[in-house]
Amino acid sequence: MRLVIRDDQHSAAFYTANYIKQRILEFAPTADRPFVLGLPTGSSPIQVYKHFVDFYKNGELSFENVVTFNMDEYVGLPRDHPESYHTFMFNHLFKHVNIKPENINMLDGNAEELDKECKRYEDEMVRVGGIELFLGGIGPDGHIAFNEPGSSMKSRTRVKTLAYETVLANARFFGGDVNKVPKLALTVGVETVTSAREVVIIITGAHKAIALNKCIEEGVNHMWTVSAIQLHPSAMIVCDEDATLELHVKTVRYFKSIEQVQEQLIGRDNIGLKGSISSLSKMNREYSS
Ligand code: GLP
Repeated sequence: MRLVIRDDQHSAAFYTANYIKQRILEFAPTADRPFVLGLPTGSSPIQVYKHFVDFYKNGELSFENVVTFNMDEYVGLPRDHPESYHTFMFNHLFKHVNIKPENINMLDGNAEELDKECKRYEDEMVRVGGIELFLGGIGPDGHIAFNEPGSSMKSRTRVKTLAYETVLANARFFGGDVNKVPKLALTVGVETVTSAREVVIIITGAHKAIALNKCIEEGVNHMWTVSAIQLHPSAMIVCDEDATLELHVKTVRYFKSIEQVQEQLIGRDNIGLKGSISSLSKMNREYSS
């Protein structure tokens, strides 16, 4: 797992947006081979989406051959409700870029048969070849999507009852009134996220410091569902300094040193986007005789 630490949430968001832009460009998607991107909602990705919109407007990134799958949606909230995740995604991203409407996938929290809707969603992911990169955020209790503490690490898309802590955290979007927050959601499962070929999680703010500690310094634990990414071969967390407050100094220094070694020893041009070294001969080998 890679842990990228940036000074603040703004630079964490820029790093994340720029990384995903580079991944899409490198992938060179076409209509027959689109880039399939999993996306979250919440306040953490808002700045990432602003950068996506800027990249698109500057001609640096096209969404023409990008297919998206959102992580979750409230049950029973009208699609055009200001706090539905549909509204969120259109306002923050979709209506500002050239994504094709048929390439946008979102769960329908008003479907007559919710279980069928969840199955349809999973089937659709398989039909398009699986998710290339799943971007996620976490709740302060370490949940990913709406996989609340105690969710199965093998879970797939399904209906979930929200934990009280999540209802409280999300009340800020409903005028501070917990009674207005839906108590059920459709969500991709932990395994739906970890089945993606790459997972990138953005974690910022001191209120998420304990969750980051549980995620990377303790074992895989269904009470902190984001910890499942420890078992993923290609996972990266992008965080800010505030989110590292509960980590050991040793952990923070280690992950920071990786970036320094990459820059100084391996060389920026010699390193692939996901950390691979393209040529040993190009390395600045300190110990050659
Ligand atoms: C909700 C969403 C999650 C998101 C979390 C954190 O619970 N279902 O996908 O990661 O909020 O949101 P924020 O970034 O606002 O802290």
